[in-house]
Amino acid sequence: MNIPIITPIQSTTLETKDVKTITFAHPAPVIPGQFYMIWIPGVDEIPMSVSRITLKTKAITFRDVGDATHQLFQLNAGSHIGIRGPYGNGFTIAGKHLLFVGGGTGIAMLAPAIEHARKQKVKTTVIIGVKTHQELFFEQHMKRTGATVYVTTDDGSYGEKGFASDLAATVLKKEHIDAVYTCGPELMMKTLHKLCKHIRFQASLERYMKCAMGLCGQCCVGDGLRVCVDGPIFDGTTLQKITDFGKYHRDAAGRKIMYK
Ligand SMILES: Cc1cc2nc3c(=O)[nH]c(=O)nc-3n(C[C@H](O)[C@H](O)[C@H](O)COP(=O)(O)OP(=O)(O)OC[C@H]3O[C@@H](n4cnc5c(N)ncnc54)[C@H](O)[C@@H]3O)c2cc1C
Ligand code: FES
Repeated sequence: MNIPIITPIQSTTLETKDVKTITFAHPAPVIPGQFYMIWIPGVDEIPMSVSRITLKTKAITFRDVGDATHQLFQLNAGSHIGIRGPYGNGFTIAGKHLLFVGGGTGIAMLAPAIEHARKQKVKTTVIIGVKTHQELFFEQHMKRTGATVYVTTDDGSYGEKGFASDLAATVLKKEHIDAVYTCGPELMMKTLHKLCKHIRFQASLERYMKCAMGLCGQCCVGDGLRVCVDGPIFDGTTLQKITDFGKYHRDAAGRKIMYK
């Protein structure tokens, strides 16, 4: 599991102009919320959450943001990547009515959890928050699960104008929600965390990763928690104690980068 398995890409789907889904054969079981380390030969190895799960095939969905993701974006079916994992803890999905809030590409890693909840016939509400309509993906995919799906755009070009966390506040007032699950910009997740003092809460954190096995300490948050093995999913009580949550993360050299 800790050595990359060189695997051909089965298929690629362009979700938006800079977001792509890649599928590959990978029979090992994976829990929604877990991630793989994806090796792009000659470039880098980067963490990517699972975005689609079938028995034999898995997928990742990612935005072209830098060196490694840009190179990954150029690959087509038949190109080879290295895959190790899955790593991390994954979501605990329980409750009668669940709210999922995905900001930006965050909806990609929430998708398997939403599908899982719907397969269990759990009432599910989904909020997808994007800056503008052109960045929206997975709306139809989420609707097909039978979830109630809302979209927010920062510029009002589609769905409701405003932030996903604003709409989440409205939903939380109107509905009896048992648990909230989120992935997206950390400031958005921090806002949601504050709204969920009395509701079960799970958020997926992103930190710069190297080993993904709990050895190098690169991804530490709070009081020595390693995002790669203790997370990436943290519950509301644990997040309360992680003082850097919503404040800063660290780059490859360990320098603090403040969230703005
Ligand atoms: C557990 C986990 C799961 C992830 N799942 C996904 C996913 O499903 N889809 C997806 O698009 N991205 C995901 N990411 C983020 C992804 O790993 C980074 O965007 C990627 O490593 C950037 O590499 P790069 O070489 O393309 O960019 P770089 O050239 O290294 O950096 C470009 C920009 O991306 C930022 N960045 C670099 N590394 C990270 C990182 N680890 N986390 C956050 N920002 C970073 C940099 O600060 C910089 O602003 C995940 C990260 C973690 C930790
Ligand atoms: S990436 Fe090495 S400890 Fe988490």
